[in-house]
Amino acid sequence: MSGWTASIAATVVSNYALDVWAAAAGVALVASGLLDDVAPPWAVALLAGSYVAWGLGLRTNLVANWSLLARTGTSTNVISKAAHDLTRRVTTSARAPRLAAAIGYAGTQVAAEVPYYAGAFGTAALSDTVGTHDAVVFLAGANLAAGAYEYGLARLTRAFLGRRRYASFDIDWVPAHYLTGYYRTVEPDEVATIAFLVAAVRHAERDRPVLFFGTGPTLHHVFAAAEIASEIHLGDYLPANLTEIQRWLDREPGAHDWRPFVRYTLQCEGIADPSDEELAAREDLTRSKITSLIRVDARHPRPLGRTYATVISPYCADSATADRTTWRLFMRHITGLVEPGGLFVTAALRRCRGYTVAGHTFPGADIDEHDIHEVLQPEFAPLDGTIEVHRTGQDTAHGYSAIVLCRARRMATTP
Ligand SMILES: C[S@@+](CC[C@H](N)C(=O)[O-])C[C@H]1O[C@@H](n2cnc3c(N)ncnc32)[C@H](O)[C@@H]1O
Repeated sequence: MSGWTASIAATVVSNYALDVWAAAAGVALVASGLLDDVAPPWAVALLAGSYVAWGLGLRTNLVANWSLLARTGTSTNVISKAAHDLTRRVTTSARAPRLAAAIGYAGTQVAAEVPYYAGAFGTAALSDTVGTHDAVVFLAGANLAAGAYEYGLARLTRAFLGRRRYASFDIDWVPAHYLTGYYRTVEPDEVATIAFLVAAVRHAERDRPVLFFGTGPTLHHVFAAAEIASEIHLGDYLPANLTEIQRWLDREPGAHDWRPFVRYTLQCEGIADPSDEELAAREDLTRSKITSLIRVDARHPRPLGRTYATVISPYCADSATADRTTWRLFMRHITGLVEPGGLFVTAALRRCRGYTVAGHTFPGADIDEHDIHEVLQPEFAPLDGTIEVHRTGQDTAHGYSAIVLCRARRMATTP
């Protein structure tokens, strides 16, 4: 089912259920006679209070709706989805689509109040048995029920997102889909990551082998290490990813085009406008330095039989599991590959529970800079004492809005 079909279906069901529930609650409150003797000012105060309750429920649901849109591209309100998608097309702002989604959602809910007002006060004006007091009580009951409904819908949405099964690397991962979805152009997360890597490798010991752990089918991070490494070893869990890299090494027709990333790497190194020859030279240098494609598994306490002076592992441990304890374990196994005094460079999707590749949601460990700082203790010290956070605003396209970047040195002796 497409995002639109699911959103339309959810909107129809949700609005119908809300109307039935809110109207029934309003009628029931009037029929119960509980508020028959309440003085008019108190009835109006109750009505005002019911709007506050409704607003609070709506606010909770707007947050849940945003998560739903960001992670699945669907919404329980199709106008909200339309406003969100349209805004994404016309602006690169990270906040605008969220605001548009909220306005679309809240706007339709406020507009839905009109028939209630017309119905309640229209009936009061035309009927001898229903008075203005009944109309006010009806609206208060309907508002309270609507507030509870919004809150309940938010809980349901969260439960749905929480229970969602993640796609499997073994079954669902298609290297070509990942490359097409993420690496046609240099997106904001990679603008920050590659610049960071270029600066980080200056801290690496030159002319030693460099390991990339969890490289996927990609090379965009590797170009930054070509000049300082004696050899480059690329490790990933999936053979299909390594095959994709081999295709690039072999210059096969249809192998991914990494030149936009090579160009950006050279720019980060200070060449303002790299020539075609300079791009080709860096590609050739990288090809000549890659001497090993290795299958690695972060689940193993010793994924490889050796250590490295420099290990670079961007978007691997955090993007391979949704379980924080497992993430910690993966990080310990990966950092265990750094020799004493060596350099570890990593990047992670910040507070991301899942990123999408061709409609599949792969797991995110939902970690942040504090988690990274903690997991590196006590053997590692972040270089410059900082772990960087960059907002990238790629929520809707990929499922995350910020990244964390860290370079750290392993103590020369175990503390
Ligand atoms: C989001 S991709 C990142 C690839 C690359 N580092 C990048 O920045 O584009 C996550 C990678 O983690 C790898 N992976 C998943 N489970 C793993 C495991 N148990 N051990 C090592 N790598 C794993 C996947 O094969 C995939 O290539």
